[in-house]
Amino acid sequence: MTHKGHGAGSPARERERWATRMGLILAMAGNAIGLGNFLRFPVQCAQNGGGVFLIPYFTALILMGIPLMWVEWAMGRYGGQFGHSTTPGMFHRLWANPIAKYLGALGIFIPFCVTVYYLYIESWTLAYSFFSMSGSYFGISEFGEMSAFLSGFQGKMSNHYFPSIAPAYFFFLVTLAVNIWILLGGVSRGIERLANIALPLIYLFGIILLIRVITLGAPDPLHPEQNAASGFAFMWRPDYSRLSDVKVWLAATGQIFFTLSLGFGAIQTYASYLSKKDDLVAGGLTTACMNEVAEVGLGGSIAIPATVAFFGLAQTAQIASGGSFDLGFFAMPMVFQRLPFGQAFGTFWFLLLFLAGITSSVGLLQPLMAFLQEELKFTRRQAAWVVGLALFFFAQPVILFLKYGFLNEMDFWIGTLGPVSLAAIEVILFMWIFGSRRAWQEIHRGAHFTVPRIFIPVVKYVTPAFLVVLLFIWFSQEGLRVLSMEGVPAENQPYIWFARFLILGILFGVVALIYLASRRGSYSPHHSTRH
Ligand code: TRP
Repeated sequence: MTHKGHGAGSPARERERWATRMGLILAMAGNAIGLGNFLRFPVQCAQNGGGVFLIPYFTALILMGIPLMWVEWAMGRYGGQFGHSTTPGMFHRLWANPIAKYLGALGIFIPFCVTVYYLYIESWTLAYSFFSMSGSYFGISEFGEMSAFLSGFQGKMSNHYFPSIAPAYFFFLVTLAVNIWILLGGVSRGIERLANIALPLIYLFGIILLIRVITLGAPDPLHPEQNAASGFAFMWRPDYSRLSDVKVWLAATGQIFFTLSLGFGAIQTYASYLSKKDDLVAGGLTTACMNEVAEVGLGGSIAIPATVAFFGLAQTAQIASGGSFDLGFFAMPMVFQRLPFGQAFGTFWFLLLFLAGITSSVGLLQPLMAFLQEELKFTRRQAAWVVGLALFFFAQPVILFLKYGFLNEMDFWIGTLGPVSLAAIEVILFMWIFGSRRAWQEIHRGAHFTVPRIFIPVVKYVTPAFLVVLLFIWFSQEGLRVLSMEGVPAENQPYIWFARFLILGILFGVVALIYLASRRGSYSPHHSTRH
């Protein structure tokens, strides 16, 4: 039984590990709990049938989310025992075929590309924390003006709020620097320490805001029917007719993937730092539950009900149809302006988003960091520099071409198509090629309780079939439409093409790095199998 990395001749460096079990769980929860919980979920819910959305949502959680969580933890820990923290090495260990490692490119490419734009959004939340604290947007009483404030900040237009994009650029650089600084600390002293501090604060701020929303009463004396209770009613009002709509099911599954960070390669990397006997059945389940409490309990209960209480149902529905940013960056600032101590609540809200964002973005970056260190023998410092510079470089078009839909185009391909594809590949490798018997054993090594047996046929047959059907429906309903740029203004089209080339370029770059690593012996043929 080999238990060492393939040091390619050099003595294997000591593998990084989580320092404590609590820290590991918080780091995993920090990875999962992100902007998706507080901005994406409420909007998805409001747009897709309100309370009824929870039916497909929890179905997807149980049939796909939790089983895939166990698969990713098990696969990650297994790879870690061979010194691999990233999917190329893991896939190579699951399947003795030279192309396996190239399939694993997705698990580095997807999280890196997501960070290129996730980091920019994260930096807006940092900026808005300051704007709330200093009261910069206080006094703006119209939705249209609040939207002009955001557009000015983002450099979509120049106006009297923001004559230039400089502040946005500044906050981006700060956010990037903080992320890199945490990565420089490594797994236990950087990421785990961050999670130990940030996770309790996320829940604390979330609970403060939740209590504030519940105690709102009817804030507008002219509209006594608008109150927190009508907000909750709106959020959770079941619209059963939506259950037969495929789109609602697609949206629910997409949200489960996004919020649990599944199919990104990130959970696998974090799991590779587990020790061999850690209980991953309990660990995976705990993380998923912590995420759901933050998502349904806090994320679903703050922004939408507060907006309804102040602005009523019709306007809230309209805001929700504008998407996550409208809710987080216009509606909430409008709410804070009307609250006593609004500056403080605004600061809590945006700091909550920032902390949720940063514990996710370091998780998105760790796969590339780990790959550079393990497979290409960079020092951690060198890896951090390379990752930081690459992000800086690739973020330029995201920042400068925001108004041409550059960010949305990247998100469309990477945030939706990517994870479903990676999940389909990994489930087939793990359950079919590695084999469901060994998969079952890996999952249960060190576990204190047994997963119900039905898990095997579900993950072996239902999950991959479902993912393939999903890819197909998704492609025929949306993929083709977006690919052909239906309805995209002609002036935006060159930028959209640029986004696509950039994405492909990054993918080729990652494949080339894997090739290089394999030339250097990182993926040597299996001389010993572990069983
Ligand atoms: N789950 C995160 C959120 O809810 C976003 C995310 C998606 C993510 N994939 C990830 C975070 C991978 C870290 C790693 O916002």
